[in-house]
Amino acid sequence: MWSTTSSQKQFDPADESYETTSCDVLIVGAGGAGMRAAIESFDKGAKTLLVCKSLLGKAHTVMAEGGIAAALANIDPQDNWKIHFSDTIVEGQQLSNWRIAEIFAKEAPERVMELEYYGALFDRTEDGKIMQRPFGAHSYRRLCYIGDRTGLELIRTLEDQVLKRNIPYMDETEITWIFKDPATGAVSGALAIKITTGELLLIKCKAIILATGGCGKVYAVTSNSWESTGDGIALAYRAGAELMDMEMIQFHPTGMIYPAGVRGMLITEAVRGEGGILTNAKGERFMEKYDPKRLDLSARDVVSRSIYTEIQEGRGTPNGAVYLDIRHLGAERIKEKLPSMYYQFLEFAGIDITKQKMEVAPTVHYQMGGIRVVPDTCETNIHGLFAAGEVACGLHGGNRLGGNSLSDILVFGRRAGLAASEYIKNTPQGEVAGQDLSGEIKRILAPFKSLNGANPFDLKDRIAATMWKYVGIVRNEIDLRKGLEEIGLIKLDSKNLQAKGARAFNQSWADSMAVWNMVLDCEAIIRSALTRKESRGAHTRSDYPKKDDANWMVNIITKQKDGQMIQEVVPVPKMPPEYEALINREEILAWKKNVK
Ligand code: FUM
Repeated sequence: MWSTTSSQKQFDPADESYETTSCDVLIVGAGGAGMRAAIESFDKGAKTLLVCKSLLGKAHTVMAEGGIAAALANIDPQDNWKIHFSDTIVEGQQLSNWRIAEIFAKEAPERVMELEYYGALFDRTEDGKIMQRPFGAHSYRRLCYIGDRTGLELIRTLEDQVLKRNIPYMDETEITWIFKDPATGAVSGALAIKITTGELLLIKCKAIILATGGCGKVYAVTSNSWESTGDGIALAYRAGAELMDMEMIQFHPTGMIYPAGVRGMLITEAVRGEGGILTNAKGERFMEKYDPKRLDLSARDVVSRSIYTEIQEGRGTPNGAVYLDIRHLGAERIKEKLPSMYYQFLEFAGIDITKQKMEVAPTVHYQMGGIRVVPDTCETNIHGLFAAGEVACGLHGGNRLGGNSLSDILVFGRRAGLAASEYIKNTPQGEVAGQDLSGEIKRILAPFKSLNGANPFDLKDRIAATMWKYVGIVRNEIDLRKGLEEIGLIKLDSKNLQAKGARAFNQSWADSMAVWNMVLDCEAIIRSALTRKESRGAHTRSDYPKKDDANWMVNIITKQKDGQMIQEVVPVPKMPPEYEALINREEILAWKKNVK
């Protein structure tokens, strides 16, 4: 572990020394998926170490505010796992892996009950059951919630469990590289930087679970905070893991518009779940045009595209937004069901949502694409490397249903922890090759040696502006190529970055590592978006406006070949006939015809 004197020690920027520690299972990322994985791995007897670059308990998980989707059927007795499975796949535009969706829908209720057992305080029905609310494109009221602070309660509850067990953890610690045994190709360790001191640590381990969340910060307008720089995607790709469906970026329909400092901050879908209505500047309830059956509670890709169209066609507000109105719910109920939204608007924008309409526009919220994993175990194509939560791919297809992220992290966080704790039982500790280690130390310290390198902060800004401009809700070949060219130039500049000052709490050094990861993520997103020549789910191409099931019912794999990033197209795994029948239900086919 870190030396006891490290907090006093000042590291020479060029100091290549490191300390060494070891564990069986290293978990990278301490949001919901990472903490749930840590609990499972620890409880199954594996020597577990949880590492995160932020503070423990601060994760994007808290931005899933409106609820956890699980077919408990507390309000609508007709609900069951099969309908949840079907909703997930249909709204994922049939790109989801059926087995992942099956495990997910079957196990979600158990994980919610477990969370309650761990101490989460859910809102309740009159007869004391967990309360459930409607959410976009879920067939039934399925979202188990705690006001509009569900993700926060989930994190708080899991954190309690981690602390109660004394599971070893290191926060403010960034993992920069995954090492593999040169003989077996299996995971053997990772290099870490203690952000508060700049100290380096080699962590020898048999298995790694990546639970680092998404890459929302590659966009200028996002609900994500500073941590979401796609680190897990980059770590996995560099280790030789395959990525999948990276073009699928979720734009949540409702982000804040002003003041500038909070642009993109999430306005929970629970506002619409509680009856909030979207209107354009002309006062029209525009969702009647785009999805007459489900209106404001249509799927996220549909609502975001509809808002985008209203704004593009001149029916937006002067601030470039549409209105969201919840006043009819009444002040008392708004404050009871949506307390965070009430204070968020009052404190940041000076708007009292019990008396005034909100202005909203889409904001980047989630990546459906990510690391390709085996359904039952969450293992990647690299032995000993597992992934769970937003960083992994396979459940959400082309569009994630709100609330499915929280049940995803509980179900697959647990499964990853279980599988990793099994894996390490028959696995010897692998070698970390000296030249791999020294090569990585040189790579990460390079910004301290540069005298004329680019400012990594500026490059982060350029990345975010480029992605927002060229790789947004609606894409086309010309824009995507411009985006790729600009990211290519940023990649060139990122080869010579400059970090000034000492190693402790060095923001420009941290930003250098973020830039390297972000550039890789962006390249994968754009190349995948160029590959998919159709419109499906969150991926809308103005030059290929139609969904093309005949040619594009495929997953797009991103991987390395001869040192280059390449894309490969593979068919979506075929589901058993009894599940096909669930997806092709008459009522679904009937209303889908009217959705734009
Ligand atoms: O709108 C929300 O509360 C977000 C939920 C989610 O992303 O799952």
